[in-house]
Amino acid sequence: MRIRRCAALWLEPRELASFQLDDLLAGGAGVVSRLCWFAHAPHLPEAVEVDAAHVPLLGALSPVDWAERNDLDARFDEAAVDSLLAAGLLLAEDTDATQTDMRFREQGWFSAAAMTHMACRWEAVDGPATMAEQELDSNEGLLRQHGAPPASGGVQGNADAEIGLPRIAHDAFDRLLDARATCRNFDVGAVLPLATFSRLMARVFGARGIGRPAPGFKVFKRTSPSGGALHPSECFLIVQRVEGLAPGLYRYRIDGHALEPRVPAVIPPQPGDLGTLPLGDQPARAWTVEELRAFARIAVAGQDFFADAPVLCILAPRFQRNFWKYRNHAKAYRVCVLDVGHLSQTLQLCATRAGLGPFVTGAINEVDLERAFGMTAFAQSPLVVCGFGKRAATLVESEFDPNRRVWPR
Ligand SMILES: Cc1cc2nc3c(=O)[nH]c(=O)nc-3n(C[C@H](O)[C@H](O)[C@H](O)COP(=O)(O)O)c2cc1C
Repeated sequence: MRIRRCAALWLEPRELASFQLDDLLAGGAGVVSRLCWFAHAPHLPEAVEVDAAHVPLLGALSPVDWAERNDLDARFDEAAVDSLLAAGLLLAEDTDATQTDMRFREQGWFSAAAMTHMACRWEAVDGPATMAEQELDSNEGLLRQHGAPPASGGVQGNADAEIGLPRIAHDAFDRLLDARATCRNFDVGAVLPLATFSRLMARVFGARGIGRPAPGFKVFKRTSPSGGALHPSECFLIVQRVEGLAPGLYRYRIDGHALEPRVPAVIPPQPGDLGTLPLGDQPARAWTVEELRAFARIAVAGQDFFADAPVLCILAPRFQRNFWKYRNHAKAYRVCVLDVGHLSQTLQLCATRAGLGPFVTGAINEVDLERAFGMTAFAQSPLVVCGFGKRAATLVESEFDPNRRVWPR
């Protein structure tokens, strides 16, 4: 058997603290910490703990050249080799784990960016509950725990050297910009007209033109910019209330301006669930309205006010589309992140123009979304969820509208 190390690997020394009743009863603080090593290898779904004694073995093996198992056993503890093979950090030739590692290599990730991407994903997180537990769910709590924030306008330089700019009268476009406010109060009784939905999809995610820079190289023009004009980001949808569309999961098809229905393979979530949806053992079926709403809540990490939107857009780059050009490039992942920010802002403005409330959130359960939509995290993964819909008549959750452009309604 021939063995090598996985393509990308970063080791993190971590201190883990846990509550120990024994320690408390013995007069201690009840919190015991231990030092350990975690291996971040982005072809694996999450970081894995490794035995400190096995760390040198990881450093001794090439990620490129194969070594004979017999030679390794002569140099290292056999059990250590077995344990790292089982963890997927060492790879034996012609195994499924090696296939996954090969697929990771093909993507063209800059390895530090791959670690960051994989490590920042959430599963089954309830954002508002976590903030409440930490007493960070109010401005008073924030100020109490963190003190005053850094100055909003940045540090004042030499005021005498400043050049005042002329104030230009506002026009209709300013009025549109000023009317944008993150919506946290959706009208859960309102159904979005199909024409409104379709126009928004076309304006934000649709192809406005096609370029063919070289044979076999096709690029779409969108209303937002994209690094290398590559537009790696796709829009996956949780459609809850759009006229004429069955509530469900969809993928927007840029070529053809169409929706591809997606039947999730995971078991349907129930109200109150917060993620970690296992794969279903029954044949996959479309979800009920209640199950879909429960899934929308999981998607936005427990932020019910966003889960009420009739349409949630999950923006997920196919990384290899960008990394094809910017291969193993230190800036490429950042460009993908910026790309989805541009798409989101276009969505915010187009939705406002349509008289709707928009939102965007980075507090999302990526792992649960990947599982439901059948994505492999290192190949395609959600970076933000945004959405839109009709605003409710009354304000329950706070919105930032200091100039009263939106409220009272
Ligand atoms: C990348 C990004 C992530 C955000 N994530 C959240 C979020 O998780 N929850 C939330 O309520 N608002 C979120 N927001 C909205 C901001 O809170 C909002 O933009 C801010 O309060 C200013 O209000 P405005 O958008 O109405 O101007 C996010 C905004 C951005 C740009």
